[in-house]
Amino acid sequence: MIPELSVEHLGDALGVGTATPRLSWKIAADPGWRQASYELEVDRGSGATRHLVHSDEQVLVPWPAEPLSSRERATVRVRVSAPDGDPSAWSAPLTVEAGLLDPLDWTATGIQPPWHEDHSDDDRRPPLFRHGFELDSDPRRARLYLTAHGLTEIEINGRRVGDDILAPGWTVYQDRLRTIVHDVTDHLVAGENAIGAWMADGWWRGRYGFDGGTLNIYGTDIALLAQLEVELEDGSVRVIGTNTDWVAHPSPIVKSSLYTGETFDAELVPDGWTQPGFDDSAWQAAKVAEFAPGTFVAPEGPPVRCTEELRPVDVRRTERGSVVLDFGQNFSGRLRVRAAAGVGERLVLRHAEVLQDGELYTRTLRDATSVDEYRGSTGSIDWEPRFTIHGFRYAEIEGYDGPLDRLDVVGRVYHSDMRRTGWLTTSHEGLNRLHENIRWSLRSNFVDIPMDCPQRDERLGWTGDIQVFTPTASFLYDCSGLLSSWLRDLSAEQKRFGTVPWYVPVIPGAPMWTPIQPAAVWGDAAVLTPWALWERFADRELLARQYPSAASWVDQVTRLAGPSRLWNTGMQLGDWLDPNAPPDDPALAVTDPYLVATAYFAWSAEKLADTAAALGHQADAERYHRLHLEIADAFTAEWGGDDRPLDDPTQTSLALAIAFGLLRDPARRAEAGDTLARLVREGGHRVGAGFAGVNLLSDALTATGHVETAFALLLEHGSPSWLSMVDKGATTIWERWDSLLDDLTVNPGNMTSFNHYALGSVADWMHRVIGGIEATAPGYRTVRIAPRPGPLGCASARFESAYGAITSDWTVVDGAFSLSVHLPTGVTGTVELPDGSAVAVGPGEHAFRTSVEAVPGVA
Ligand code: BGC
Repeated sequence: MIPELSVEHLGDALGVGTATPRLSWKIAADPGWRQASYELEVDRGSGATRHLVHSDEQVLVPWPAEPLSSRERATVRVRVSAPDGDPSAWSAPLTVEAGLLDPLDWTATGIQPPWHEDHSDDDRRPPLFRHGFELDSDPRRARLYLTAHGLTEIEINGRRVGDDILAPGWTVYQDRLRTIVHDVTDHLVAGENAIGAWMADGWWRGRYGFDGGTLNIYGTDIALLAQLEVELEDGSVRVIGTNTDWVAHPSPIVKSSLYTGETFDAELVPDGWTQPGFDDSAWQAAKVAEFAPGTFVAPEGPPVRCTEELRPVDVRRTERGSVVLDFGQNFSGRLRVRAAAGVGERLVLRHAEVLQDGELYTRTLRDATSVDEYRGSTGSIDWEPRFTIHGFRYAEIEGYDGPLDRLDVVGRVYHSDMRRTGWLTTSHEGLNRLHENIRWSLRSNFVDIPMDCPQRDERLGWTGDIQVFTPTASFLYDCSGLLSSWLRDLSAEQKRFGTVPWYVPVIPGAPMWTPIQPAAVWGDAAVLTPWALWERFADRELLARQYPSAASWVDQVTRLAGPSRLWNTGMQLGDWLDPNAPPDDPALAVTDPYLVATAYFAWSAEKLADTAAALGHQADAERYHRLHLEIADAFTAEWGGDDRPLDDPTQTSLALAIAFGLLRDPARRAEAGDTLARLVREGGHRVGAGFAGVNLLSDALTATGHVETAFALLLEHGSPSWLSMVDKGATTIWERWDSLLDDLTVNPGNMTSFNHYALGSVADWMHRVIGGIEATAPGYRTVRIAPRPGPLGCASARFESAYGAITSDWTVVDGAFSLSVHLPTGVTGTVELPDGSAVAVGPGEHAFRTSVEAVPGVA
C-alpha cells in the first residue's frame, strides 16, 4: 500500500503561492484498514525532518514543517499507519517549490512599448519584446517568473515556454494580478541566448462587455514584467529581468481581440527574433511600466490549455469558393490551419455555433464577430491564432483554393485544464448525450473564470449562472482551484461595490449597462458556491476565507428586507429565462420575483448557518438558523394560501418552497409536492422553470415522493425540456430552452446562446439520484449511495473524491435490481436500496440485489 500525495488544488507544485501548502493523499488499503496516524517527511536539501501526527485526516492537512521561503524547494513524502500496525511504504516524493512570495522579490522593471499609441483605437498594434543575453555555463536550474498587463506568450531561443494560453488570466486586476512560473532549465544554454515575448490586449485594455463594450478597462498600455533566474553550474545565480535594455517592435499580430479575433501578418514577422544572434539594432528601447507587486498572486488552479483536438466531421466547398467545416461539437477554442499550397494572400476564418440554410449564423455573436485573419504571400500556412478564443462548432475559411484533402484543419479545444472527476452513463442514449452536452458546456465556459457563454460579447463571470451550476461542475471536474480564485475576486468586488455584483470581475469604468445592485440568485453565489465547494472538496480554509463575504451578503439582504423578512423591493432577475417569459424580456417570469428573492434569502441564511457551524461559530450558526426560520414563516404567511401550500403555485415557487425548507408544516410540504407533481403532469412534463428553479425541480419532486414524475420530466421530448435540445441536435446546453425553435430556426431573441451551462444544473440530481452518489459529510468523507432506477435499465456513476474513487453501478435485469458499490479507504456510508432497505458500508466492494417488484416506479 503506497499513499498517493498531492498539494493544494494544484496538479503542478511549481511556484505555489503559499509558504505553508496543504497536503492530501489517497490510500488504497484493504477493506477494514483505518488510518490512525500519518508521518510526513520534508526534505529541503539540508537534511529531512519527520513529522508524526495522530490523526485520521488525509485531505488538505496543514504543512507540518517550517514555512517555505520564496523559491524554496522541498521534497515531501508521506506514510500512514493503522491503529496498531506498521507504517505503510513511503509515497513517491513530491517536490513543492514556492514562487516569489514577497513583493520585494521582484527586482525586474516592468516594460511597455516606447512608441505613441492612440488609445481610442480598437486596433492598436501590440508590441513584441526581446532581449539577448549570455550565460557563462549551462544552467543547473532556471525559473521564469512573469506577469503582464494584457496577455503574453514567451519564447526562449526560438522555442515556446509552457503550453498555457491567455496568461496571466483574468482576475480583478486592481487587487489581484496573477504571476506565472515556468521551469525553463531546458530552454537555456551556455553562451548566447534570447528571450522574446508576444503580447496582446486581452482583458486589460481590449474592448470587452456587451452593448459595444469598453476599451482600456484596466489601463491603456500593454506591459510585461519578467524575471528569469538562472542558477549556473558554479552555483551562482544570474537574474535577467525586464528593463530598458529590452527592445520593442510592433508585432506581426496586427490586431488581437478576445471577441473579434486576431489578424496576423506573416510578412511582418522579424525572422528569428527569439533566437540568439538576431540583429535587433532597429528595434526601440522599451519604456518603463509600473506594476504593483503588492497585488501579485499565484495561480490556484490549472491554466487554460488545449485539452483536445477535433477533426472536422464534414468539409465542403461553397458556391462562393469558401470552405465550410463542421466539427460535430460546439466548443471553445480556435482553429489550427495547415496547407502547403493554395493559400491566398488573405485567409479569413469565421466561426459560428449554428448553421441556417447551410450558412454560418453569426447574429447571435452580436459584436463578438470572431474572425481570424492570416496574411502572407507564400501560398502556404501553418497557423493558429495566439490570443483570441471563440465558441463555435462550424467554421468557414475564405482564401483557400487548393484541394480540400490538402487542407489540414483541426479544432483545438481550450479551457482551464481541470482534472476530470465525475462520470455518469445510463441505458438511455438521449440522457447520455444530455450529460455529455452538460460536460461540454462546462468545459467551454470554464476559461479561467466561470463564464456565462464562450461566444458572444459577454463571456462574463455571471454569478447566478455559476451559483446554480457549482454542484454539477464540482462533481464533473476538480474546479476547486478555479472557483477558489474566482471567489476571491467576488469578495474583492463585493467590498468595492458594497454588494455582490451580477458578474465578477466587474468591468470597471464601463457605462453601467447593468446596475450594480443586489439581486437574489445572483448574489447568493457568495454563500451557496463556497458551500457547494465545501461539500465536494472539504477545503476549510476556503470556507473560512469566504465567510465574511457570505455573511455580509446575508446581512445586507436582512437590512433590505427589514422586519417583514420579505425581500420585496428593488430590481430582481427572478426566475430568469422562465420558458413562459417573452423572448425579449427574460425576467418576466410567471413566478413572482419577490417570492424567488425571499426564498433564496431564506436558503442563504440557512446555508450560512451551516457554514458558521462548520467553522465553529456557534452563536452565528444559531442566529442565522433563527433568521432562516423567520423568513420561512414570513414566506408562508405572505405567499401561502389558507387551504393550499402556495397561493400562486408555479413549478419554480413550489420547488423553492420545498427544496429550501420553507414549508415547515409537513402536511403542507407534502401537499406542495403533490401540487408540483400535478402541475408537471398537467403541463405534459414540460419544464416550466428558468435559472432560479431549474436546479431544484427534480429534487423537490424526489423529496416529496414523486421521483417517477422527476424522471418523466427529465425524459420528456416535447419542448421545453432537456431532451428537446438533444433532439434538435444540441451538443452543448443552450441558454434558452428554445434557442432553436421547433422549426429549427434560431430564436429571434437578441440574447440567444447555444452554450450556457445553467439549464444543465439538473446533472447534479442525475449524479445523486440516478448515479446514487451523494456526500453526507464534506469531501465525501461519508456518503449515501441511493440510486433510483426509475424507468432506466442501468447506470454507472463514478466520483473521484479526494479519498479516491467512489463508484455505483446498477442494472435492472430479469426482475432483479443489482447494485455494486466501491468506497475508497477513508470513506464510509450507507447504501439505500430502492426497496427502502439500508445497510452501513465501509471501504471496499459491496454488492446488493433486490427484486424489482419491491422497487416502485421500475418499468
Ligand atoms: C447572461 C446570463 C446572465 C444574465 C443575467 C445574460 O446576458 O448571459 O447568463 O445570468 O444575463 O442578466
